Amino acid sequence: MNRTWLVGASEGIGRSLAIGLASKGYKLALSARQTDRLSNLESQLGPEHLAVPADVRDQTTLQQAWQKIIDEWSGVDVIIYNAGYYRPAAADNFNLEDAEAMIDVNLTGALRVLSLAIPAMIKQKRGKIVLIGSIAGYRGLPSAIGYGASKAGIIHLAENLRCDLSPYGIHIQLINPGFVKTRLTDLNTFSMPFLMSPEDAAESIMRSMEKNKFESRFPWLFANAVKLMRYLPSSIYFALIKRQKKLP
Ligand SMILES: NC(=O)c1ccc[n+]([C@@H]2O[C@H](COP(=O)([O-])OP(=O)(O)OC[C@H]3O[C@@H](n4cnc5c(N)ncnc54)[C@H](OP(=O)(O)O)[C@@H]3O)[C@@H](O)[C@H]2O)c1
Repeated sequence: MNRTWLVGASEGIGRSLAIGLASKGYKLALSARQTDRLSNLESQLGPEHLAVPADVRDQTTLQQAWQKIIDEWSGVDVIIYNAGYYRPAAADNFNLEDAEAMIDVNLTGALRVLSLAIPAMIKQKRGKIVLIGSIAGYRGLPSAIGYGASKAGIIHLAENLRCDLSPYGIHIQLINPGFVKTRLTDLNTFSMPFLMSPEDAAESIMRSMEKNKFESRFPWLFANAVKLMRYLPSSIYFALIKRQKKLP
């Protein structure tokens, strides 16, 4: 069974993923805040799918969405946490509101969703949890206050979940994309190597889901190069960043 709660389904990668998964026979419960976009997507995909609007910063709306899923399907087999918020944010121009929003949507929101669904998955002794992280979570990058920490948190959370939930037959997948052209990256003023379309990103995510590996990243060359940076000594890593930023 492929009853799937896709959180962050209205735009960008999530919307393309919804279309791709529906064509592969997944039954989707679609969450995000924009109810009109969710309803349009639900009608486009067909009557077996559900629009369950929710704000991941508001547990009450998530509880209502979860209750609707339980009432309709009695449970889920897959959860995909894709909701995300990003604003370029440097520490020398600190914007606390943006930094808090990034942590709250990208990381704390995942905890809120999981707090609802994990007990049910434990009871049914199976399930899959897919967390959409980012290669920005591998190491500290410039102008990534809030976002980088939220995605490093997601990477860590995926490892915590894997430790705790594998005895219950619950499979965890962490998928870290590189740059994808969406309304979020449209805010970037720097050049983004290997920029992908949301449709190609969704294809890569679906391929990763089929492979069932714990961690995947894409696009292959760029994402692996960024991951390798994790193993560089800090002195070399920060020297490279300094050269890139042309700092004094
Ligand atoms: N684009 C990239 O280059 C890139 C790279 C690596 C990782 N990612 C990650 O991929 C995921 C999708 O990003 P995207 O680029 O596709 O962004 P996007 O086009 O802005 O889509 C983000 C999705 O999250 C939902 N969302 C945002 N805030 C929410 C909230 N408070 N409650 C519920 N849903 C919320 C949005 O729906 P509503 O606005 O309707 O609520 C939307 O469906 C994010 O986790 C992002 O960090 C993106």
